[in-house]
Amino acid sequence: MTLPPIEERPDLYDEAERWSVDQLRAHQLQSLQASVRAAYEHVPHYRRQLEERQVHPDDITSLEDVRLLPFTTKKDLRDNYPFGLFAVPREEVVRIHASSGTTGKPTVVGYTKQDITTWATLVARCIRAAGGRPGDILHNSYGYGLFTGGLGAHYGAEHAGCTVVPASGGNTEKQIQLIQDFRPRIICVTPSYFLSMLDAMEGFGIDPRETSLEIGIFGAEPWTEAMRQEIQERAGMHATDIFGLSELMGPGVAQECVETKDGLTLWEDHFLAEIVDPLTDEPVADGEEGELVFTSLTKEAMPVLRYRTRDLTRLLPGTARPAMRRLQKITGRTDDLMIVRGVNVFPTQIEEIVLAVDGLTPYFQCVLTRPGRMDELTVRVEASPGVDEARRAAIVREVQHHIKSRIGTSARIEVLGEGGVERSVGKARRIVDERNLR
Ligand code: DLL
Repeated sequence: MTLPPIEERPDLYDEAERWSVDQLRAHQLQSLQASVRAAYEHVPHYRRQLEERQVHPDDITSLEDVRLLPFTTKKDLRDNYPFGLFAVPREEVVRIHASSGTTGKPTVVGYTKQDITTWATLVARCIRAAGGRPGDILHNSYGYGLFTGGLGAHYGAEHAGCTVVPASGGNTEKQIQLIQDFRPRIICVTPSYFLSMLDAMEGFGIDPRETSLEIGIFGAEPWTEAMRQEIQERAGMHATDIFGLSELMGPGVAQECVETKDGLTLWEDHFLAEIVDPLTDEPVADGEEGELVFTSLTKEAMPVLRYRTRDLTRLLPGTARPAMRRLQKITGRTDDLMIVRGVNVFPTQIEEIVLAVDGLTPYFQCVLTRPGRMDELTVRVEASPGVDEARRAAIVREVQHHIKSRIGTSARIEVLGEGGVERSVGKARRIVDERNLR
């Protein structure tokens, strides 16, 4: 499958994208010192935490000194609900977002005017790195509202000089109509919802390869290299990965460059990343897998110190932007780790298997139950239209075999008919927990 050619435009880079490592590190240290000072002086929670550790902002004399700082977790955000972590008077906060959170209170984040500008600048940088250019039409199917996806991509697209179609999530038929009529070059959407859009197009007799779309900016949930191949094949477009989290900003923390598609370039002029061993909390070397931890370098309304993302990845050396390190495509979250008969399983591993089996749609869900003392995994998959009983039985054996041989555990496989696996218009729910844990 040949994909649309994309002209490289280094002339459109932000200055920081051209910095040397030395320039970048010098900027990071200065910004880290200022951020720690702001947190210490204006946020009682951080002041307390730093005093408990007998750390003063003056102690930060190198980037390694970030290790002196306390970790921040989602619980700290909840404990300070709603506005307790703001470092500026509430009146200077021009925007609030919140993450839904599966239980209890949502976590709230705030932005000053400058924070919104920084965010738009970084998302614009992502769009260009994905191959977007001023004047492009960009269809934005990330949800608008408290979720950061919709408005984050929207402001960034405007900043990049694109014409934005604020479609938000849902109403798939309408989305297809708009894509047909407005002829966007770029789409921003979760990869799982984009699959539903592709199905809908094909259902209407539209060949997705014939649409105007050339670039997808997919994120907000983990997705695999196998999914990239599937989307690029079916839609004849470039599939790039965008990463972000509301606690740090929203979408636009890191983005895959279209010319390399080798992991996500981290915008290190704004975020200081570490990887820590989630069990010992000790930082690990670049190249080793662990939990991603971020300290914000330029956030005004809500600076964060060593925020534990729970995302598992590695830091890799820069390629398309040599001074900036990359994040390897995210394997999953520590919360998504399923332990089945003593073996660690992530939904992304299941995704790779499902996508490689003939006769299955890309939709799947992992259902966890605990009939006795051990967790059991049932993988719900969906047969493509026209798949007969004999083939379904073979699919069960095939999926079971791959799970056993590649992951090392056993699973029950439930093959459902078309539409049998729940669809989402935003982040897909990959794990259904039916364990009744107390
Ligand atoms: O999902 C922000 C976002 C919107 C990113 C649109 C990209 C596109 P939250 O709702 O706070 O924010 O969820 C953040 O989603 O910690 C990851 O676990 C996951 N996540 C986000 N992007 C990716 C990605 C937005 N590209 C959480 N790959 C993060 C894997 C991702 N996981």
